Amino acid sequence: MLRTEAVIDLSAIRDNVASMAAGTAAEVMAVVKADGYGHGLVPAARAALAGGATWLGTAIVHEALALRAAGITAPLLSWLWTPGEAEMVRRAIAADIDVSVSSQWQLDAVTAGVRESGYTARVHLKIDTGLSRNGCYVDDWPELVAATAKAQAAGEVIVVGVWSHFAYADEPGHPTIGKQIAAFRAALDVAARAGVEPQLRHLANSAATLTRPDAHFDLVRPGIAVYGLAPVAGDFGLTPAMTLRAAAALVKRVRAGEGVSYGHEYTTARDTTLVLVPLGYADGVPRAASNVGPVWVNGSRFTVSGRVCMDQIVVDVGDLSVSAGDEVVLFGPGSRGEPTAQDWADAVGTIHYEIVTRVGPRVQRTYVGGTP
Ligand SMILES: Cc1ncc(COP(=O)(O)O)c(C=O)c1O
Repeated sequence: MLRTEAVIDLSAIRDNVASMAAGTAAEVMAVVKADGYGHGLVPAARAALAGGATWLGTAIVHEALALRAAGITAPLLSWLWTPGEAEMVRRAIAADIDVSVSSQWQLDAVTAGVRESGYTARVHLKIDTGLSRNGCYVDDWPELVAATAKAQAAGEVIVVGVWSHFAYADEPGHPTIGKQIAAFRAALDVAARAGVEPQLRHLANSAATLTRPDAHFDLVRPGIAVYGLAPVAGDFGLTPAMTLRAAAALVKRVRAGEGVSYGHEYTTARDTTLVLVPLGYADGVPRAASNVGPVWVNGSRFTVSGRVCMDQIVVDVGDLSVSAGDEVVLFGPGSRGEPTAQDWADAVGTIHYEIVTRVGPRVQRTYVGGTP
């Protein structure tokens, strides 16, 4: 057993994508930002493509360039960039990476790059339909669309996509979902009237991919579901791909009344066995899991005892027989009875996205179920 390990089941990623692809007529863009939600950028991308994704999406341009550097030739979209990254975006365009444009300054940066390099940029225009995050505000949309139409006529850009993102798709039936779909259609009409008719209209994240076929348009953009975690309650036939585990570093018998870990927020109630686990908040174990995070030791479930430290946690396992080197699982698919990322999210008051994405670089990724 390795000291710490995130075991990534690539067949789960492949099958999760295949099942979403089978459930829609739209193309599937697997979102692999944030190091494939902690699962590993390139292996996650390859597994998603094997499952039938025809596109990959990243937040930042560096991630998209890393995919190209790894030899991945599938269409890529990257959507979050700042003025200081105009040069990176230029490189991305030269590497046949599509970039998102949400504002006039971004269009200007793209066209300036195009004039210098001679490449035509493939862009996806982003409309803010109600998330109020990235995307062009509705009042500014006609102007951005008109400027983009001009750049398209000049051969500087090709508008491959028009797209947007949901605020509330993880609450099926929420009234904003229908409103955002209507706002998206209205934005498409404005674009069409200006002569901008993209090949791809896309709006759906995982939740909408799984629950709102009326939002699929030409392409869906699932992220979290690719990794087997459902963003809404229900059985969607997904398999969680990540198991976070460690080898017990030290096991000791202690007396009743011992204070455990910093601040002694846990005290042994009786003579008991403490297991030291070499994972801490530097590895992505939330400090908020102190005294509440679920842990599975040799087939039984316990709770983190005392505070989560930077590199380690302690678990009081009572009279369970444990040896140094034995397997300790923080979360996995749940098929052996171990806690899941959802259990961790519930315990610490967050979402499973944060649990898997924060697993740090010290934790070795081990790939099973396919070639990374
Ligand atoms: C623009 C965009 N599209 C798609 C996704 C995928 O979302 P999810 O992981 O909820 O499927 C994200 C992730 O936050 C995103 O930022």
